[in-house]
Amino acid sequence: MQNIKWGIVGLGNIANKFAEDLALVSDAILWAVASSNAERAQEFARKHKAIRHYDSYSSLFEDPAVQVVYIATLHPDHVPIAIEAIRHGKGVLCEKPLGINTKEVQELINLAQNHSLFLMEALWTRFNPAFEQTLQFIQEGALGLLRYINASFSFNGLDRSIDSRLFNPQKAGGALLDIGIYPLFLAYQILGIPKDIKASAILTPQGVDVQLGFILTYETAQAVLYASFSHDEDMRATICGEKGQIYLSSRWHETDQIHRVQSGKSTIINCPVKGRGYYYEILEVHKCLILGQTESKKWNWKNSLDLSSLMDQIRKQCGIVYPSDPDQ
Ligand SMILES: NC(=O)c1ccc[n+]([C@@H]2O[C@H](COP(=O)([O-])OP(=O)(O)OC[C@H]3O[C@@H](n4cnc5c(N)ncnc54)[C@H](OP(=O)(O)O)[C@@H]3O)[C@@H](O)[C@H]2O)c1
Repeated sequence: MQNIKWGIVGLGNIANKFAEDLALVSDAILWAVASSNAERAQEFARKHKAIRHYDSYSSLFEDPAVQVVYIATLHPDHVPIAIEAIRHGKGVLCEKPLGINTKEVQELINLAQNHSLFLMEALWTRFNPAFEQTLQFIQEGALGLLRYINASFSFNGLDRSIDSRLFNPQKAGGALLDIGIYPLFLAYQILGIPKDIKASAILTPQGVDVQLGFILTYETAQAVLYASFSHDEDMRATICGEKGQIYLSSRWHETDQIHRVQSGKSTIINCPVKGRGYYYEILEVHKCLILGQTESKKWNWKNSLDLSSLMDQIRKQCGIVYPSDPDQ
């Protein structure tokens, strides 16, 4: 089997977790890592057995051995860094959200298309075994006509400083882009583009959403969705159709368990997760690279654009604005 040589840039919280799962993928080689901080790069390379480490992202992009780069920096840096990686001929797996707004996401996708290079937003829930099983049940018609989705993503982050990536508008802080993207993804993946959106948020004095609720309305269904940094919650997700229901156990976006109810009969379906769950998005990247595909069939460029456009609409209703927005 062909080995794939990875680079990772931005060596913080999520990069560490991702590297642990990368080590579980037999044909993945962690070739190089890069940080703005040389000591962090050296320590990360030691911990995760990376072959090379760099104190600048550009040096990693100039390493000809790196085939695909995982970008794990803060939201506003995703697009500029992905652009640099693509200009150096690298495939890209970029953390969510792919960009701050649709304009940015479109620009990045155009570049990947022009260079015929792989690009995917790291929406790892899409590849989670329980989620794949849920989609299969729905596609087989097990729930009948879908009527209702309810999902949230919430944790208590109130102890983080106003300069943190959660709350600083310069870092595109706010619950929607960071975690509201998950319930939005769930509704979008199952029901598609809604015909109407109603969103309302509680903003911090700095103008980012500390909590927000949004309702997506379709011809025959509604999705009632929520995200916040202001309290903990066990985070189950509910999907109801006229013939049955699926409950994704806590925390639904990374769950290993489905609770299915049909004709009054309740069944628990266990779907074991390897590693932390990032393993499955890595397998998808490998599959695409080996097949020479520039985008995933399961989470493609249009999907990322649609999600970004929905977030733009929600932000507009709530008055959430970032420096990179087109009208700023
Ligand atoms: N998929 C998931 O489950 C998941 C979970 C958490 C986060 N995420 C996503 O991953 C991204 C990073 O989140 P994280 O929690 O890993 O963040 P983090 O630990 O705070 O920071 C990640 C990296 O961003 C760079 N960075 C941090 N602060 C910076 C600043 N003030 N200026 C410039 N660069 C800075 C640093 O890279 P250097 O090492 O180069 O200095 C840092 O190591 C976010 O976009 C988030 O949406 C995804």
